[in-house]
Order: sequence, then C-alpha cells, then structure tokens
Amino acid sequence: MHISTTAWMLAACLGTLINASDVLEVNLVFPRNETYAPNDTFPVVFAFKNSELARHLNPSISYSLWNELDDSAYILWHELRWVNWTDQETYFAYKFSDTFNTEGRWKVLWTLGWDSCNVESPSYGNEVISNTTTRATRFTTSNSAPKLDPVAATANKTCTGQPGVAINVTDKTKSIGSALWEGGKYTNHTCAVVAASPTPSTNPCRTQIDETTLASMKASDWASYCDSNFNEPAECSDKKSSAQPLAVAGLSCLLGLTGALGFFLV
Ligand SMILES: *[C@@H]1O[C@H](CO)[C@@H](O)[C@H](O)[C@H]1NC(C)=O
Ligand SMILES: *[C@@H]1O[C@H](CO)[C@@H](O)[C@H](O)[C@H]1NC(C)=O
Ligand SMILES: *[C@@H]1O[C@H](CO)[C@@H](O)[C@H](O)[C@H]1NC(C)=O
Ligand SMILES: *[C@@H]1O[C@H](CO)[C@@H](O)[C@H](O)[C@H]1NC(C)=O
Ligand SMILES: *[C@@H]1O[C@H](CO)[C@@H](O)[C@H](O)[C@H]1NC(C)=O
Ligand SMILES: *[C@@H]1O[C@H](CO)[C@@H](O)[C@H](O)[C@H]1NC(C)=O
Ligand SMILES: *[C@@H]1O[C@H](CO)[C@@H](O)[C@H](O)[C@H]1NC(C)=O
Repeated sequence: MHISTTAWMLAACLGTLINASDVLEVNLVFPRNETYAPNDTFPVVFAFKNSELARHLNPSISYSLWNELDDSAYILWHELRWVNWTDQETYFAYKFSDTFNTEGRWKVLWTLGWDSCNVESPSYGNEVISNTTTRATRFTTSNSAPKLDPVAATANKTCTGQPGVAINVTDKTKSIGSALWEGGKYTNHTCAVVAASPTPSTNPCRTQIDETTLASMKASDWASYCDSNFNEPAECSDKKSSAQPLAVAGLSCLLGLTGALGFFLV
C-alpha cells in the first residue's frame, strides 16, 4: 500500500469520526433473513452506526428470540447506559445464544427505545419524550446449511428482510434538571433534539462483522462468563487475559471505512 493511500485512509477514518453524519442507525446485523446451521454459541449482533449520536438519547434495546414452531420466546436486553459512546464509529451490542442450537424457524423481535428533547414542551411540561420502535427479522436453521460463519454471512452487502431504525439527531441539545428525567444521570442531564420526519432509511447490510471483531466479541463474552462465575471454572484462568473488548471500538473505524469504500466502489 502506498503511503499516500495510508494517509488518505487515515484521514478518511478521522473524517468519519469528526464529521459524523446526522443519522444514528441501529440495526440487527446478524442473523440476517437467511438459513444457517444450528450452533450453540450463535451470535446476535446489533450495531449502532454513528454511535456518538446516541450519547444524549439514553437508548435501550430489548429483544426476544422467538421459536416460530412452538411459539415460545426467550427475552433478552442490552444494558447501554454505561456505554462510552465517544470515538466509536460503530458500537456493537451482542450476545451469544444457545437458543438456536436445533433446526427451526425463528424470529428476532427487537425494540429500540430512546428519549429526546420535547421541543414543544413549555418549561413546566414534559421536557423529554420517549419513543420506541419494534423491528423483526426471521431466519431458519437447518443442518444442511454450511457451518455458521457470521463473517462470511455479513460480507454480502445485499440482504432483504432486515429492517432497522434511523434517527436524525440534530446538534441541538437541551440541559434538563436532574429531577425531571431518569435518563439524566446517564446523559450528563442533556437531551438531544431529534429532527422531525421524513425518517431516513437504513442500510443494515453495510455493517460487516470481520474476523477480528468476532474474535474480540468471543473473547469478551468469554471474559464475562468467567467473571460471572464465583468459582472460576478451570478453563477460564489461561484464556482470561486474551479478552480485549476495546479492540472492537478501535476496529469499528476501519469497519466504517471499509463500508465507505464499498459504498463508493459499488
Ligand atoms: C470514553 O472513551 C474516550 C475515548 O476512548 C476516552 O477518552 C474517555 O476518557 C472515556 N470516558 C470515560 C468516562 O471513560
Ligand atoms: C418516534 O419515532 C418514529 C421513528 O423515528 C417517528 O416516526 C415518530 O414520529 C416518533 N414519535 C415521536 C412521538 O417522536
Ligand atoms: C459455531 O459457530 C462458530 C462461529 O461463530 C464456529 O466457529 C463453530 O465451529 C460453530 N460450532 C459448530 C458446532 O458448528
Ligand atoms: C448476497 O445476497 C443476495 C440476496 O440475499 C443474493 O442474491 C446474492 O447471491 C448474495 N451474494 C453472494 C456473493 O453471496
Ligand atoms: C426473507 O427471505 C425470504 C427468502 O429469501 C424471502 O422470501 C422473504 O421475502 C424475506 N423476508 C423479507 C421480510 O424480506
Ligand atoms: C456536561 O454538561 C455541561 C453543561 O450542561 C458541560 O459544561 C460539560 O462539559 C458536560 N460534560 C460532559 C462530560 O459532556
Ligand atoms: C436531518 O434533519 C436535518 C434538519 O431537519 C435536515 O437538514 C437533514 O437533511 C436531515 N438528514 C437526513 C439524512 O434526513
């Protein structure tokens, strides 16, 4: 690679961090509406693109993994209030699930919640409005599918049946009294003004999970598994030090860059 290319990439990378877009995109990036082999450590991955914009929105994700054959569901959520949104082009929220370890038909039903400044509120009124949007992605597990490979699956920039949520976050913010908003203490008592419709579109297939990101997710999943066991399982001690959750953050700039390049090249 020429130095100039490197410099350009670096500049582009910094550019995405500094000149972030005004749209926060939240997508389920894996699984997609496809067929996969069953797996007992099946990743379910959400991505916050331009995640800095989430800083003042107090976002939350709750979701259920529906078994469409027997109509049962397993409920999960992500605690996002302590996420450091700074300098992360893409923030991944993920869990590894053993739910999809048999053949079946499934639905990931997820709800994004967020709060924004109520621009119309009189000073004594509700200063914050809470909004939620629910999306669903269906997929199938089959023993005849090739071995589960989230990296290969998300390398394809075309997919259908993958609706996301896009929020147009303006740079206007409002400071609100601590008593008025439960989300205040997670947002420095600041709400952001969200632009009225039209709602921008999303592009879930643009976010890829690469090998390094997946490895980092596995490592940090492993670390939290070990941390959550008071009697540390024997297999933990030697692997623990390999956990590097921050690697995901560092990488996301590159991911964003790859995405941007892909966008220009297609
Ligand atoms: C958040 O992350 C940024 C960049 O990595 C760092 O400079 C900052 O200190 C972090 N903030 C907190 C509260 O940890
Ligand atoms: C909630 O968000 C949706 C999607 O962005 C938007 O269409 C709707 O107007 C919002 N509702 C409120 C009360 O802001
Ligand atoms: C489960 O998926 C992972 C990839 O995420 C793969 O490395 C592993 O081999 C799979 N397990 C089985 C039993 O296929
Ligand atoms: C990517 O996905 C689309 C839609 O699902 C499919 O038509 C296409 O063949 C896939 N491309 C590759 C390279 O797998
Ligand atoms: C999901 O994929 C199937 C098979 O490719 C397709 O028929 C269906 O329309 C897709 N679902 C959505 C909501 O796009
Ligand atoms: C918190 O908000 C105050 C003003 O409301 C601002 O001066 C301060 O820099 C903010 N702190 C952070 C960490 O954003
Ligand atoms: C976001 O809202 C601003 C202000 O209303 C508008 O100028 C901008 O075009 C919107 N961006 C998108 C991508 O819709």
